Formats: sequence, C-alpha cells, structure tokens
Amino acid sequence: MVSLSPTLQTRLSTPLKIGSFEVKSRVLQSPLSGVTDMVFRRLVRRYAPDSMMYTEMVNATGLHYVKELPKIMEVDPNERPISIQLFDCRPDFLAEAAQMAVAEGADTVDINMGCPVNKITKNGGGSSLLREPETAEAIVRAVVKAVDVPVTVKTRIGWTDKEINILDFAKRMEDAGAEMITVHGRTRSQGYNGNAKWEWIGRVKEILSIPVIANGDIFSVEAAVRCLEQTGADGVMCSRGTLGYPFLVGEVDYFLKTGMELAPPTPVQRLECAREHLQALWEYKGDRGIRQSRKHMTWYAKNFPGAAELRGQLAVIETVEQGLYIIDQAIARLNNNDSFYELALAMN
Ligand SMILES: Cc1cc2nc3c(=O)[nH]c(=O)nc-3n(C[C@H](O)[C@H](O)[C@H](O)COP(=O)(O)O)c2cc1C
Repeated sequence: MVSLSPTLQTRLSTPLKIGSFEVKSRVLQSPLSGVTDMVFRRLVRRYAPDSMMYTEMVNATGLHYVKELPKIMEVDPNERPISIQLFDCRPDFLAEAAQMAVAEGADTVDINMGCPVNKITKNGGGSSLLREPETAEAIVRAVVKAVDVPVTVKTRIGWTDKEINILDFAKRMEDAGAEMITVHGRTRSQGYNGNAKWEWIGRVKEILSIPVIANGDIFSVEAAVRCLEQTGADGVMCSRGTLGYPFLVGEVDYFLKTGMELAPPTPVQRLECAREHLQALWEYKGDRGIRQSRKHMTWYAKNFPGAAELRGQLAVIETVEQGLYIIDQAIARLNNNDSFYELALAMN
C-alpha cells in the first residue's frame, strides 16, 4: 500500500503556478508523438479533469511554410488546461508558431528540448539544444517576447553520461524567461533505456525558483509518490505509463489529493475504454485513425487471459467494425469467465 506523508500532502496541496497560470493538479500528461491527440486527451481528462495535458510536438518550420493548422495542433475549446508543444531550432519560427498556438487556445507554450530522435536532432531541434545552450536561450527569449502566456521547456539531463549539463542548462532557461521546466531524467544517448536518474531532477529543483516537473519512469501511483519524495519536484509527468492506460494520471491525481488509492479498472473496463478510443479515432481521423488505433489497441490488451491472442488480432484491423467486433467478443469472453469464476466460487 502506498502512503502519502503529511509533508508531501501539504507541499502539493496548493495549485501549481506556471507564471500567472494556475493548475489544480500536480500530475501532468506528457506530450507523446502519435498518441496525445484530442481523442486520447479526452480519455485522460475524464479521470484527471484538472491536469495539464500536452499536444504532440509540432514542427515550427512546417507551420512557417504551410501556414495551415495541422491536426496534431488542434485543441478543443473546452479542454483546459492545455499546452501546445513546439519543436525547432529557429527562434523566429518558434515565436511565430507560438502565436499560432495561443490563437488555437494554448494556456502555455512548451518548447521541446528533449526529443532524442535523429530526424529532429540533426536539424538542431529536440535534445540537440542541450549542446547549444545559447540557441536554447535565444529561443526562450524570442517566444516569451512573442506571446503573453507562460512559456515552458521540456528537456533531458544531458546529451550523454559524460555531458550531463542540466544544472547549467535549466538555470539558463529560467534566466531566459521560462516559467516551468520539465526534466526527463535520462540523457539523450539513453533514449528510453535504463533508469531515469531522478537525483538530477532533485538537484535542478534545489537551484531553480520556477516549478520543476519530474519525468521518467512514472508507471504507477507508488512511483509518482516516490519520485516526488525523492526529488522535491513540484509535480510529476506521466508518459509511457499512460499508453493503453489513460487512467494513470487520474489515479495519481486522486491519490495526491485524497491519500486514497482508486480501484484499478478491470480488464473489461479497459477494453470498454479501448472500444471508445477506437470509435473516436475513426470519427476524428477516418482510415488514418484506424491505422493509428492498432498500436493503441494492442497496448490495451494486456494482463488478462487471452490478451496475447487479442493483441495479434487487433494489430491488423482494417476497419472500425472489425475492431469493435473483436473487442466485443473479447469483452463477452471475459464476462463469461467472470460468471464462470463467480459460479465456481459460489459452489465451493
Ligand atoms: C511514443 C513516444 C512519443 C513521445 N513523444 C514526445 C513528444 O512529442 N514530446 C516530448 O516532449 N516528449 C515525447 N516523448 C517523451 C515522453 O514525453 C517522456 O519524456 C519519456 O517517455 C520519459 O517518460 P517515461 O519514462 O515515463 O516514459 C515521447 C515518448 C514516447 C515513448
């Protein structure tokens, strides 16, 4: 059982202040490319209505030339608090993109300085900015000047184990005008491997005045609490733990507010959520939504009898009807199993 120390509860009982903007939750849903579209965010928000959510990262150069809002930047007027995340290395393009983000309804604009993917870093964006702190500073200054919402940064602890420069980098971001920083406790060269080094997040917290959000390996309520205790961070951001599990942010938020753990969703409830996710992706994106749904569906199909077989079926769905049929059959099987077990228990 997880317990919440009175010190932690008191420390986190006030709203998270991002500049002039207040958020009534200390748990955030991270930006996840290919995942955190409007459909996914709506599911997460059902269980975590107060939490800050992020769009997928948006390319500022693309916006500059295309001048048309991409679907990944769309925000529902009712979904708040919401941050639009941008990536690039050009301060002028990012400033321009930030203005478009605010016009779309962003409560804050986040700059991605952590993405490890080659395609992004070789163009000077994402985590490569850790090696170009002057450019990173210029970006923050330009974006702060361009918009009147808080500007935030999400980054890693360094490029490699030998180049951990997060302390200097984070301070520079604060001095340039960033109102919050999220630190993923891995280096660029780690990718998503090995453990997140939360101790670096704790050190960043010690030297900054702006809120510091801890990110990396928050897969459960217990991990969230342990990370907040260890780092002294102002909040935690959940990422891979939410794949196929849009309940996590809500579970952590509920625990931090009440000290009580919510009962986890049953396999049937998880599949009902998958069903809704699939249907909504189809309605929002058509055939592209079905193609994107395959990975989501396989993430939902975990930890119950028959899950492996179900994953195989869901990984290749071609139509919404096919997907819904497969999920409905699986739900029926699980419900039958439940009544079988209940009967067996009653007979014993
Ligand atoms: C599929 C996937 C997509 C991601 N997309 C983004 C993104 O668009 N912007 C970003 O800042 N981080 C992105 N990340 C990084 C996560 O937000 C997070 O920093 C990282 O997964 C570490 O947290 P975790 O160990 O809890 O997963 C992505 C990660 C994954 C696995």
